[in-house]
Amino acid sequence: MKAIIRPALSGDSAAIAGLATTSFGHAYDPGHIRQVLQSGRNYTLVADCAGTVCGFADCFLTRSSGGQLRLEFDLLAVAASARGVGLGASLVRVCNRMAQSLRVYQARALVRIENAAMQALMTRCGYKQCPRRFGLYVCDDITATGKASAIPVDNLVSVNTLGYRGIWIEGHLTVEMIQAAMARAQANDAHTIGALINETDSPARELLIDNGFSKVGDYQWWTFTPGSDPS
Ligand SMILES: CC(C)(COP(=O)(O)OP(=O)(O)OC[C@H]1O[C@@H](n2cnc3c(N)ncnc32)[C@H](O)[C@@H]1OP(=O)(O)O)[C@@H](O)C(=O)NCCC(=O)NCCS
Repeated sequence: MKAIIRPALSGDSAAIAGLATTSFGHAYDPGHIRQVLQSGRNYTLVADCAGTVCGFADCFLTRSSGGQLRLEFDLLAVAASARGVGLGASLVRVCNRMAQSLRVYQARALVRIENAAMQALMTRCGYKQCPRRFGLYVCDDITATGKASAIPVDNLVSVNTLGYRGIWIEGHLTVEMIQAAMARAQANDAHTIGALINETDSPARELLIDNGFSKVGDYQWWTFTPGSDPS
């Protein structure tokens, strides 16, 4: 299958939303995707097969609590009819080259532990699997009760993905941090807060559930160091 990998244009929003909706099993809003593409903050690519979008990848920059720049490899999908011929790998490799030119210290992707296709693809494209497993918990019911300023800024990461505008909580979880994330979400018109915890950390799990979070699944980080792609 002949495809060109190119930056996504706002006119691709409906095709990307359709592909994401069928690939991930829940609805993606083309209007939100258009707004993200027009913001120019994300690095979104499409695999264009003779004028039809048959795959896409979306990445954006964040900073670690130590101030290091990361490329978050957030979403990737290839149309079912176009899988298995290398389009996913082509999209990842272009993102790897972007990671290199953006001079990030690391690109990373959070991958569900049961997603064998994505894990094989990550391995093929030079990503390393981090051994620790995390439960991903998400809250879509934002009720602000705290002050965002009470928490170091780097522990709350504001993101605008193709699926949602949200806040990621990083570092040791406390009730103050959840409250600060709620306040930050309200201030930023964000609708989703996500947190990763070690599943053996029962106090953290109880804290999240008591504050309206529910579990999405079990995940591992896969990381790529620019310059290490074997292909
Ligand atoms: C994951 C996904 C993007 C792979 O896309 P793809 O275009 O089929 O992948 P490629 O053809 O480029 O395959 C690249 C490598 O991954 C491996 N791979 C791909 N699909 C695989 C599968 N179902 N099982 C095992 N390995 C697989 C292949 O071994 C291949 O390596 P090779 O070149 O050595 O043969 C695609 O299956 C998809 O869209 N899945 C649904 C959405 C999703 O889960 N996205 C990831 C989470 S954000």
